[in-house]
Amino acid sequence: MFQFHLSIGLILFVSHLLLMLAIDVKPQKEHYKPVYSVYHNMSSIALTLGKLVKENSDIIRHVQHEKYISKQRRQQFVLHITNFASHSEQYRSKVNFLLSFGEHAREFLPVESLVHFLRMLVMDWRTSKPAIDLNQVSIFVIALANPDGRQYVEQTENFCWRGTLSGVDLNRNFDWEFGGKGSSGDPQDEEFRGPKPFSEEETFVYRDLTEKFHFDGFISFHSGTKQIYIPFADTRSRQRGRVPANLDEMTRLAKELSAATVFKHEYGQAASLNDYTADGTIFDYMAGRRKIPFTYAIELWGPDKHMGPSCFDLFNPPNDKLQEVVSDMYPLYVKFFQYITHWKAKLRTTMKREGSIHSYLPREDAGLQYYTHWTVPSLSPGLLLLCLLVTVTVVIGLQGKYFLCRRIYNRRRVISLKSLSSTLSLNLFHT
Ligand SMILES: *[C@@H]1O[C@H](CO)[C@@H](O)[C@H](O)[C@H]1NC(C)=O
Ligand SMILES: [Zn+2]
Repeated sequence: MFQFHLSIGLILFVSHLLLMLAIDVKPQKEHYKPVYSVYHNMSSIALTLGKLVKENSDIIRHVQHEKYISKQRRQQFVLHITNFASHSEQYRSKVNFLLSFGEHAREFLPVESLVHFLRMLVMDWRTSKPAIDLNQVSIFVIALANPDGRQYVEQTENFCWRGTLSGVDLNRNFDWEFGGKGSSGDPQDEEFRGPKPFSEEETFVYRDLTEKFHFDGFISFHSGTKQIYIPFADTRSRQRGRVPANLDEMTRLAKELSAATVFKHEYGQAASLNDYTADGTIFDYMAGRRKIPFTYAIELWGPDKHMGPSCFDLFNPPNDKLQEVVSDMYPLYVKFFQYITHWKAKLRTTMKREGSIHSYLPREDAGLQYYTHWTVPSLSPGLLLLCLLVTVTVVIGLQGKYFLCRRIYNRRRVISLKSLSSTLSLNLFHT
């Protein structure tokens, strides 16, 4: 009986694939694609991060939380980095950071940059005079914010896909000026904000961590151009000239971040760097709602020139340039941690004098749990089969309408128009 179901399932699955191939428009012509011995893919991301955690559990741990996962229950790989030997006594005095990678499915580069940063950080910490002092800093990393979207890109080779699997742009789904003109209510649009703030499961980890801790610095990492954005990016702020409280300090650090690497990122307030505004973004939320004093969205890398409607090369360097690009980025991380650690030490001295230090201390250490041994997340064969059958049933049920495929088809057209427009102006707001 089981085998019978299995073979029926397989036949239907294969025919489903053929159906999609038949309906799918011709794939976007890419100048180059990722080679998975160079770029990571979903499985090697899990393996690489798992290895880093396993071999360096004194300083890197994988935070265990049932809700730090995507809609399709894939890990977002939330890591906690600090010197755990000194952590239980000293966490109250540590400087807290939150970094976010992999929000947009087609932007592979930020995740590569993270992996390189982690490797360098580990080496740095084992030297006698580390540049990043893990006795003083505590870093949370959301390594792959949008794993379903990423999986979709790898599976379909649609390197233009930006959103979650439901087509929502995570970076428009947050509760800061949600619904404004700098986002779209159209599910076909790549800047679709979703039905309401935090409608996407993937946003949970951002809210949860910022409820548990007071962070001093936050970065939302992207690629597509070379720019450092200071909040706010939303339409209303642009109209009214609203700026975050810590604007001057933030601008000073942005300047240093720009000078720290060969990329010499352009920097400034999002609204003044771009013709576009963006509403409901993660970094605006972190600045405006969570009041994190240093908050940026950084577009790490973009091509010097871009021709035609291809996508992968718009966001990611060629395979043979990847290592060089990510190595060149490392000083940006070092500068970020050093500057804010220094800033906070100065602030503490001032505040101690004025007796008002409490609002800057972290909240309770929140009884975090860590995975004690690393397991690569996987679906059990039974569950896989069930998913397969459900998918197939739905597809068969909708036959004649081809609901799913039609939607993807339309979306791709929207995207190619946008990509085309970016050949005219590289200032397209990708964050
Ligand atoms: C992922 O990359 C590895 C190499 O790191 C490769 O062996 C594996 O086949 C790739 N998996 C997929 C599904 O492409
Ligand atoms: Zn992006």
